[in-house]
Amino acid sequence: MMRVPFGTISVTERAKGLVMDALASKRLSSGRLVREFEKRFASIMGAKEGVAVSTGTDADTLALAVLYDFGAKRGDEVIVPALSFVATGNAVLQAGFTPVFVDIDRRTLNIDPALIEERITGRTRAIMPVHLMGKPADMDPIMKLAQKYGIFVIEDAAEAHGAVYKGRKVGTIGDMGAYSLYVAHIISTIEGGMVITDRADFAEVLRSLRSHGRACKCESCVLNINSGYCTKRFAKGGGEDIRFQFERIGFSAKMNELEAAIGLGNLDIFGDILSKKRRNLLSMMEKFQGFEPFLYTIEEEEGEEIGPHGFPIILREDAPFTRNQLVDHMEKSGIDTRNLFLSMPTQCPGFNFLGHREGEYPGAEYIGRSGIHIGVHQEIGEEQIEYVMETISNFLTVNT
Ligand SMILES: Cc1ncc(COP(=O)(O)O)c(C=O)c1O
Repeated sequence: MMRVPFGTISVTERAKGLVMDALASKRLSSGRLVREFEKRFASIMGAKEGVAVSTGTDADTLALAVLYDFGAKRGDEVIVPALSFVATGNAVLQAGFTPVFVDIDRRTLNIDPALIEERITGRTRAIMPVHLMGKPADMDPIMKLAQKYGIFVIEDAAEAHGAVYKGRKVGTIGDMGAYSLYVAHIISTIEGGMVITDRADFAEVLRSLRSHGRACKCESCVLNINSGYCTKRFAKGGGEDIRFQFERIGFSAKMNELEAAIGLGNLDIFGDILSKKRRNLLSMMEKFQGFEPFLYTIEEEEGEEIGPHGFPIILREDAPFTRNQLVDHMEKSGIDTRNLFLSMPTQCPGFNFLGHREGEYPGAEYIGRSGIHIGVHQEIGEEQIEYVMETISNFLTVNT
């Protein structure tokens, strides 16, 4: 039987070499490789600054926490889509803000821009759209609202490496873009995250936040090079020791040199992986059209290029079979499946304390009950795609 795994990871020879070099140098915590990785990542995406952190969740959290330096108060509101990987909602809470959920458009799986304005209040500080499954959220109306109300936009581009919206890479359209570099994503450091921005003042606060909120801005402290040997402390003329001064509530969220080494190797093959994933996605989308009466997936619309994360499959409302029946058939046929994400406020018990009730977010809840996703990764070829489609077709023949 053919196997179609959900994901894979590519580790290049250069990455292995860099890991061995880093180990030999005994310089393992955040240092020059991290700095090089940040610079190359930012330049590939088209941003001026990159700040590497420990995870994608940290990237979301720290990007939000930056706003305290720019007028936000603890407990202020951040608008997020009701449907996302749960980290988006967790990050808002971890940063000390209140998440305000907005339902999604079932067709795009992304935040419905038409529903955002009614949720904006005097305490709204940011909108955090998510480019779910690598499909760009509709950024034009979001940026318009942000301008109108003077609020920030932080893009959760965790799943959307290389996705393009109207000629610009997602993550560069809002004030900051946050990426996950977990193994499931195209550019990976195994675990890791990155925030990109054009604003040097945001980047400076991000570098402080990832290192406990430290005050010192000397290169050694900011980049954590020279094993924390603070150049200010030992600068000619002496001066005050500011190594243990902290000017904001911070996090411990640095990236280490081994992770950056893997990431640097991965950047070399980013373009290749992205184009293979896109080839697979587009081929699957085309072949999937025949299943439309019972199942649907996302579309690539004019002006956008999806940076594929997975291939979503959603049951139509009147499908005469259940999600479990479809999943069972696919898994027995060797095709890995994952349920799609849940409505954070109403289907994830951790958010119960916010007092939302099932039914408030019909779009997100529907996807939470009726969606799955399967792999589109670089090692999947046309033969496997044909097999997936044949498997679904056989299922539909028997069950409809
Ligand atoms: C939309 C979204 N946001 C945030 C994250 C968090 O990333 P991480 O798992 O690296 O913390 C993920 C994870 O993949 C994600 O899919």
